[in-house]
Amino acid sequence: MRRFRLGLLMAAVLMVMSATALWAAEGKGSLVELHKGKAKCADCHGSGKKIAVDDSEASVNKGCIGCHGTLEEMGKHSKEEVNPHRSHLGEINCTACHHGHTASYVYCLNCHSFDMKIPAGGAKAAEKAPAKQKGKMRTEKADVVVIGAGAAGFTTAITAHDAGAKVVIIEKQPITGGNSMLAAGGMNAAETVFQKKKGIKDSVELMYKDTMVGGGELNDPALAMILAKNSASSVDWLTSLGADLSDVGRMGGASVDRTHRPKGGSAVGAHIINVLRKNAADRKIDIRMNSKVVKIVEDAKGNVTGVVVEGKHSGPYTINAKAVVITAGGFSANPERVAYYRPEYKGMTTSNQPGATGDGIDLGTAVGADVKDMKEIQIHPTVAAGSRILITEAVRGNGAILVNQEGKRFVNELTTRDKASAAILAQTGKSAYLVFDEGVRQSLKQIDGYFHLDLVQQGATVRGLAAALKVPADALEATIANYNKAVETKTDAEFKRPDMPRPLKTPKYYAIAVKPGVHYTMGGLKITTESEVVAKDGKPIPGLFAAGEGTGGVHGKNRLGGNSISQTVTFGRIAGASAVKCVKGVK
Ligand code: SIN
Repeated sequence: MRRFRLGLLMAAVLMVMSATALWAAEGKGSLVELHKGKAKCADCHGSGKKIAVDDSEASVNKGCIGCHGTLEEMGKHSKEEVNPHRSHLGEINCTACHHGHTASYVYCLNCHSFDMKIPAGGAKAAEKAPAKQKGKMRTEKADVVVIGAGAAGFTTAITAHDAGAKVVIIEKQPITGGNSMLAAGGMNAAETVFQKKKGIKDSVELMYKDTMVGGGELNDPALAMILAKNSASSVDWLTSLGADLSDVGRMGGASVDRTHRPKGGSAVGAHIINVLRKNAADRKIDIRMNSKVVKIVEDAKGNVTGVVVEGKHSGPYTINAKAVVITAGGFSANPERVAYYRPEYKGMTTSNQPGATGDGIDLGTAVGADVKDMKEIQIHPTVAAGSRILITEAVRGNGAILVNQEGKRFVNELTTRDKASAAILAQTGKSAYLVFDEGVRQSLKQIDGYFHLDLVQQGATVRGLAAALKVPADALEATIANYNKAVETKTDAEFKRPDMPRPLKTPKYYAIAVKPGVHYTMGGLKITTESEVVAKDGKPIPGLFAAGEGTGGVHGKNRLGGNSISQTVTFGRIAGASAVKCVKGVK
C-alpha cells in the first residue's frame, strides 16, 4: 500500500515537473508563454486521462472565445485600420495565428506584407511534425471522404450529405476556404434569373463557345459543355443556400455580362465560402482541419477503400470509405512545380493561398490516375506590384484601362488573361498601371479593399495622377481623352475593346501598379463528365472522384475569369452525387 502511494506521489511530481518544463522550455511567442501563470494545461488539453487536443483545435478555440469573445467582437475593439480580426477570412480559428507551443504567427502574413504585431508573436515557426502513431493505427468509417475544404470540397460534401451520406472533410490547412475564399471577380453563368432580370441575352452555347475560344480549343469539349449547361442551376443552388449573386458584370473573354457576384460588386469568394461554411455547420458535417491525407487506400482489385490521414495532434489513422473525392486545388503556390512545367515563370509572385501545392494531384497519381494539361499555367495580368494581392479583372470589366510607364494604352483590357499578361510583360518594367476614376470606384465595392490595403495612387486631375505616377502628363491626358471618345462612339479603333461601360471623367483619378502573377493551374487529374478520376488505361478508378482546380480539361490553355468558382460548384455538385451513387452501388 505504502509502495503504491509512493508511486502515485512520484507520478504526480513527474507530471508537475513535466508541465513546468513545458511552460518553461517551450513556446517563445506562443499561447503557453502568453498564458503563463494565468491558465493551466488542462484549460486547453482537458483533464481526462489522455492529454489530447482535437486536430481542428476546436476545443482550444472554444476556450479562447469563452475568455476573449468571438473574432467579430475582438474586431470591434481593434483600433488599427487593417486588423486580422476583421479580415476577409471570416470566422476562423484563433489558433490559425495564436499557436499553443510554437511561435505565434499572423496567418494573413502568408500572403500580405503588413507590419502586424501579434501578442507574444514571433517569426514563422518551422512546421511541426505530426504526432507519432502509438500502437495499432486506429480506423474510422465514413461513406464519403472529401479531401480539401474549398468551394469544391464544401459543395461536394453538402451535396453528398443531403443525399444521405456520412461525409468527412479533411483539410490540411488550419483554416477552411482554400483559394476559393480569395476568388474576387465572380461566378460565370448563362441564362440565369439575374441576367434575365437585367435584360442580358446569353445562352449556354455562347458561354461554351467563349470558354472554348478562351481556352484555345484545348479544353475537353464535354467538360466545357457541362460547365456551361449547369452554370445557371449552380447559381440557383448557391442562392438556395443563402448566397447573393445578384450583381452581374463582365470579365475578359466573355461576349456578354455573365459574371455573378454579391450586390454592389463585393468579392464573390469570401461570401460564398461563408455561406458554405454555415451550411456545412448547420448540417453538422465533420470537418477536420490541420489534417493531411497522405495516402488513398485501395483493395487488391483497385477499388478505392479509404484514406490514411495524418492529424496534427492525433497522428496517423485510417478512414474506410466507399468513395473518396479529391478537391484539394491546384499548385500555383508550389514555385518549384510551376518552374518545372514553365521555367519562364520562375520567381514570379502568386495570388494563391499557401496550401495550393498540388498534393491532391499527387494523391491521385499515386493510385494510377492520369493527368491532363499540366503545363497550362495561368498568369493573371493584374497582381498588385510587389505583393500577392490580386486586383480583380472586374475592375477592368467595370471600365478601368491599362496604361504603361509612357502613359499609353497598349492592349484590349478585356482580352483573355494570357494575352493581357503577355502584353504587360512586353512593356517597360514588365508592369503597368490600372487606371480608373471615381465612377468605376463607386461601381465595384471590392475596390474599397485596395484603398484599405494602401495600393492606390491618386490625383484630383489626370495631370495630378500623372505626377503621382511619374508618367508623362500630356500622354496620360491624351490616352484618357481618346478612351473617352471611344466610349462615346462605342468604337475602340486602336485596341478593339468590346465593352466600355463608362467614360473616365469623374475625379478623382486613381491607379494601381500591377504585374502578372501565377494565378491558376488549368491542368490536373483527368476526369469524366461524372467527375470520376480516370486511370492511365482510360477507365475510371472505382471509388475515386475529383472536382475543382485540381482537375484538368475544363479550361484548356487559358481559363476565363469567373469560370473557376463556376467549375468548383458545378463539378462539386456532380462529384457529390456520383460519390453517393458509388456508396449506394448505383451506376
Ligand atoms: C479575378 O477576379 O480577376 C480573378 C477571379 C478568377 O480568377 O476567376
